[in-house]
Amino acid sequence: MAKKVLITTPIYYASGNPHIGHAYTTVLADVLKDYYRLLGYNTYLVTGMDEHGQKIHDKAEAEGIEPLEFVNNVSKIFINLWSKLNIKYDSFIRTTDKDHVKYVQSIFAKYNELEKIYKGDWKGYYCPNCEESKSNSEIINDNGTLKCDIGHNIELKDEEAFFYKINDKKNWLVHKCFKKMNIIPDNRKNELLNSFINNLLDLCITRTKNNWGINTIIYPNHYIYVWLDALFSYISGLNKIENLNNKWNKFNKIIHLMSKEIIRFHCIYWPIFLNDLKLKIPTDIISHGWIITESGKMSKSLNNVIDPFEIINKYGSDQFRYFLLKEIPIFNDGVYSEKLLIECINSDLSNNIGNLYSRFNGMLAKYFNSEIPEADKKLDIYKIFKKTIKAHYKKIKVCIKNFQFNEIIKIVLQQIYWVNKLIEDNKPWELFKNENTNLLKTIINIIAYNIKFVYIVLSPIIKEKSLYVIKKLCLKKYSLKSILNFIDLDYLKIDDNEILFKRIEQKNN
Ligand code: MSP
Repeated sequence: MAKKVLITTPIYYASGNPHIGHAYTTVLADVLKDYYRLLGYNTYLVTGMDEHGQKIHDKAEAEGIEPLEFVNNVSKIFINLWSKLNIKYDSFIRTTDKDHVKYVQSIFAKYNELEKIYKGDWKGYYCPNCEESKSNSEIINDNGTLKCDIGHNIELKDEEAFFYKINDKKNWLVHKCFKKMNIIPDNRKNELLNSFINNLLDLCITRTKNNWGINTIIYPNHYIYVWLDALFSYISGLNKIENLNNKWNKFNKIIHLMSKEIIRFHCIYWPIFLNDLKLKIPTDIISHGWIITESGKMSKSLNNVIDPFEIINKYGSDQFRYFLLKEIPIFNDGVYSEKLLIECINSDLSNNIGNLYSRFNGMLAKYFNSEIPEADKKLDIYKIFKKTIKAHYKKIKVCIKNFQFNEIIKIVLQQIYWVNKLIEDNKPWELFKNENTNLLKTIINIIAYNIKFVYIVLSPIIKEKSLYVIKKLCLKKYSLKSILNFIDLDYLKIDDNEILFKRIEQKNN
């Protein structure tokens, strides 16, 4: 039976419109899902919206509308973005969904029954923007205004609340959980071990002064803290409230994607919550870097927030997805610039990836009446080609498991340079003129299988155009292994003069 992999994005706060950072994580998750599908896994992708909490309540109030109306509006915009970006999720979970609410209430009741929680007084600093308690060392005094380490205004809280017993799980975390879970990159794991775990306190998990959240029912004036609510969406997102926990435990791999600022919730609290319920802990926690702009971190006050809709409308979804995967280094911060995007479209997509397809179609029509010829399998050049693709296949499998998508792109580009050189060296137009048919057939055959290689390997990234080419190649079912089939295109007729990626003309400044 095929192995099952669950991939998740963070569920995004429904407090404002999506920006390029949200788009980045969700595209990564979608790409990962498709690569796992190409490897033969049964895949399931969960994304969605985090719709409760003080920040959202306050924003709705400022707009003079009910919180539910507010989050309905924002969620629609996110859904629209995912559709424009060709994201194929299996579940879109909203924390205001009735089934999710019921599930989280049952989880709270279970912790109560297991005596994992206790009542106390919650006194301390809270950042509604981060939806997170802050310790004294994380507070900055900015000319008399107290701010969190990221620069948001903080509040002093003093209310009755329930606490989750975290402190007595330290040993388990360090000696068992952290040894088992794959936390990537390593340096973030070390940061957590060196700083955060030592100062671990029990976690305050209910609120009484903010009622835009899930009520605990057992203690009617207590509402569940957004992070406890949100993390369980990864399980409630498995659809239908029945047997959710069993469904979760059946995954062979559970991969959570996010950026670095929220790994402590995923690497510390989340595994503890799961372990106390005897549920599987995630296999992989992947924290990527931030997308920043040429003027630094995006922020509303600097008016430099990048709107993904604008980019997609101007340049296209495949183009944007390719740029994100090629140019943003997954484990470091990466800069978005329109200039870089245009360069990427022109040099990679138009001049190489797209041009190979057009060139091939031109030659196929001219020399073989649009029918792919058979190769002479004894020729050295053919043997070299097959050997190279086999080596690429092995490398790509490793890259997928290591989340090295830009390495995969490099392999594809390298292969395109190779085939372009093959064309320049062998000059098919002269072979045609000199009636050197055997070599000409072999060269055209090699180009055809190269095109199959390129578009299958890039199909998780440039989804639309790959699907278009794969249809032209009449490949009904395909996987990564299909690149090792060197006979299925022989004698296939393709008559196409489509230009897949148009060049972007740059205005001179
Ligand atoms: N609601 C919580 C997550 C709960 S998950 C159980 C949350 N939401 S968020 O709207 O703030 O989204 C944070 C996530 O958005 C980051 O972890 C990251 O995946 C993505 N990004 C937001 N800004 C980003 C960048 N500038 N760059 C890259 N990704 C970023 O936290």
